[in-house]
Amino acid sequence: MRQEILLKLKNISVNYGGVKALDGVDINLDEGELVALMGPNGAGKSTILKAIFGLVPIQSGDILWHNEKISPISYQMVKRGVSFVPQGRRVFADLSIKENLEMGGFAVKDKRIIDQRTKRVLELFPDLKEKLETKARTLSGGQQQMLALARGLMTDPKVLLLDEPSLGLAPKIAKEVFAKIKEINEQHKTAIVIVEHNIKFLLEITRRAYILDKGKIVAEGGSRKLLKSEIIEKVFMGKTKY
Ligand SMILES: Nc1ncnc2c1ncn2[C@@H]1O[C@H](COP(=O)(O)OP(=O)(O)O)[C@@H](O)[C@H]1O
Ligand SMILES: [Mg+2]
Repeated sequence: MRQEILLKLKNISVNYGGVKALDGVDINLDEGELVALMGPNGAGKSTILKAIFGLVPIQSGDILWHNEKISPISYQMVKRGVSFVPQGRRVFADLSIKENLEMGGFAVKDKRIIDQRTKRVLELFPDLKEKLETKARTLSGGQQQMLALARGLMTDPKVLLLDEPSLGLAPKIAKEVFAKIKEINEQHKTAIVIVEHNIKFLLEITRRAYILDKGKIVAEGGSRKLLKSEIIEKVFMGKTKY
């Protein structure tokens, strides 16, 4: 039996002034699914995540959450169970790991729930657990990315939107981050939309992917199949002719 579609983007277009960033994009996300969004710089990947999280106005098209049309507004999306980890590991540098996590639980008023969640999240990140009082600024790039992920989990999301989590990390560290993302997906059944440009890594951890170019989805399907297809080379080498 097919699982319920959790989130659906139907024919979504977004403009920034005169720039058409998304042009009729369709995307589905099932419960618990891990899906990749790939494409060259400027393709519109970040804009898709921002549109889902209510950070950019949508010109046309519909966003459906459990088959119901919604107009995304960030704080409401958090309540629905969506968490966004933007590009660039934006941790609070002058706050400790513990404080960063608490900030991630900002929407929760009950201190006990924040404590429970912190404990649960830290089970996934034993390295962070050892350094709870350490200031985020002293962490390595990889550790900061882990912290950004951990913070993203503090709202206990059903959907995690991740924008280029491996950016600027050495390949070995990026691999650890990907492994952790897979673990989050498998253990917590969190659905994840991950934007990446590290194609090989990504296709190893996701079953399904969308390839975006110039604001349009130009290919979608099983990751392994896509990895072998010519489309990847075409899109990423800028030889776009469809
Ligand atoms: N705030 C903005 N104002 C104007 N143009 C933007 C803005 N953000 C993105 N764009 C443009 O929209 C397009 C898609 O950008 P983006 O979604 O960031 O792509 P990606 O994440 O795939 O690199 C690009 O042409 C980019 O220059
Ligand atoms: Mg981007």
